[in-house]
Amino acid sequence: MIFDHLKKSTQELHNEAEAYNDASKVLDNSITVEEYKDLLITNYGSYKPLENFIADNNDVLNNGFSSFAEFHKSKRIEKDLKCLGIISADLELPIFKPNMVNLSYLLGIIYVMEGSMMGGLMISKQMQKCEHLTTLPDQKFFNREVTQTLERWNGFKEKVEDIENQINTEEITSGANDAFAFFKKAHIFYSEKKFLFS
Ligand code: HEM
Repeated sequence: MIFDHLKKSTQELHNEAEAYNDASKVLDNSITVEEYKDLLITNYGSYKPLENFIADNNDVLNNGFSSFAEFHKSKRIEKDLKCLGIISADLELPIFKPNMVNLSYLLGIIYVMEGSMMGGLMISKQMQKCEHLTTLPDQKFFNREVTQTLERWNGFKEKVEDIENQINTEEITSGANDAFAFFKKAHIFYSEKKFLFS
């Protein structure tokens, strides 16, 4: 029930995210290595501050969700960036300003981070057809771990459904909306930087 609601209430934000996301250059197979670097940096700046917030509030999460507070995405992006000569610690990150701190809000944020990996699977499939990316080593973030990714996503949804009586619908929706808004903020943050320095 809660996931039907989240999916419906964030549908427009998702459509918007698909439209502005630089991954479209992967989907039409035209992306260059430089553009791919930018795509990874934007993703890093999107996940890392949200993961920091989740990890800092792991005690609020509890309920067996600690595997979702482990820098699962940013650690992978750090490795991919390193192979391209970029030290992630040197990157400037946008700041995430939460509107509240409670279990439902945190789960709304995790919903967006984990759900976004469905798009990640589509992107990693298309990456195999990008002629400019053929020299890249095995990618850790946009990977082909289809089974594990789906298991993680379904596992998250089951865990949330198990504690649905503890979830406040408005707060979880607020977390999801704020996470979508933060992805957009990160996109704008790095687009403006590129514009200033190009
Ligand atoms: C080019 C970019 C993207 C593509 C092609 C894409 C594609 C997809 C696809 C195919 C699904 C599975 C839909 C389904 O099972 O019905 C999905 C789910 C999802 N995506 Fe994206 N996505 C993209 C970007 C994003 C971004 C940037 C975010 C987060 C800010 C995001 C968040 C989500 C969420 C939360 C779900 C789960 C929806 C649900 O089943 O409740 N996506 N996406």
